[in-house]
Amino acid sequence: MPSFARAHTNLALVKYWGKEDEALRLPSAPSLSVTLDAFYTDTRLSKADTNEFVLDGKKVAGPEADRVFSYLSRLFSLFSLPKEGLLVESRNFVPKSAGFASSASAFCALAAAFAEEFGLDLTRKELSIAARLGSGSASRSVYGGFAEWKEGGTGESFAFPLDENPSMGISVLFLSFGGGEKEISSTEGMRRSKFSPFFPVWRQECRKACGEAESAIKAGDFEKLGEVAEKNACQMHALALSCGFSYLSGLSLEALRLAQNLRKGSVPCYWSCDAGKNAALLCQKGDAGRVKQAVREAMGAGARLFEAGPGKGVEAWREV
Ligand code: DP6
Repeated sequence: MPSFARAHTNLALVKYWGKEDEALRLPSAPSLSVTLDAFYTDTRLSKADTNEFVLDGKKVAGPEADRVFSYLSRLFSLFSLPKEGLLVESRNFVPKSAGFASSASAFCALAAAFAEEFGLDLTRKELSIAARLGSGSASRSVYGGFAEWKEGGTGESFAFPLDENPSMGISVLFLSFGGGEKEISSTEGMRRSKFSPFFPVWRQECRKACGEAESAIKAGDFEKLGEVAEKNACQMHALALSCGFSYLSGLSLEALRLAQNLRKGSVPCYWSCDAGKNAALLCQKGDAGRVKQAVREAMGAGARLFEAGPGKGVEAWREV
């Protein structure tokens, strides 16, 4: 009988950017994120004679399918299970064509569907460890709301929930500037960034930022959390630039200026940006209308807007 899982993506407010061990995906520093309600992956997993990966209704071969099946083969070994053929059918409710990444929701849903299909009865900590092996950021998508993933010197590195039902009314507005796929994957960008002379400083800054973000979340202090997130995103992109590459475009930086100008006008709004040029603006729910209007006035049709709020943790079930 097939198993199903739904996992939401997350936006890192303190970024995971650098690994101590690439094969185990052990992060060099802690990270902290908010799981998003609007974007998710649904995965159906069933036993089959041969491996097959169907994404958004189309059979997929090549590197994307290879990554899925080498991950699943790793899960079989991790849980000492005999290998079997699997049919993986995933649907991404993530605007991928708008340049948004889905590896966090994709690998979290895959891990959860696998655990369900093989009756593994994992704790969420164990599920987070399994999801991490597919894509580091997937470890945090196990939980709803705010989650943190501590750095770990051993194989036991997992994310844990900080506040799964945030009372802080937070809105995340994603600005998509169009264009093709990014040239440098996160995995490759992290690899290069480790050669930066600033990498040790980056690690320290992430540790400090996580502590500050934790306190801000506990205190319900949106402005402090936003400040920490914007500073950390700027530092990640500065780190990349220090290694001679950048994900940012002129529009990404225009979005940063927009957030700063909104703050001058007393609208608390903060910028973030992952390994791509698209930007995210964080604001309080009640200010989302004003921020959207400001984006439209400043960027017009140059930016497509998507809105999300805090979302739920992963869910999985099995057909009986
Ligand atoms: C900038 O989780 O995609 O979004 O572990 O190599 O698959 P791999 O990396 P991935 O990297 C995410 C990078 C980021 C920051 C973050 O989500 O913390």
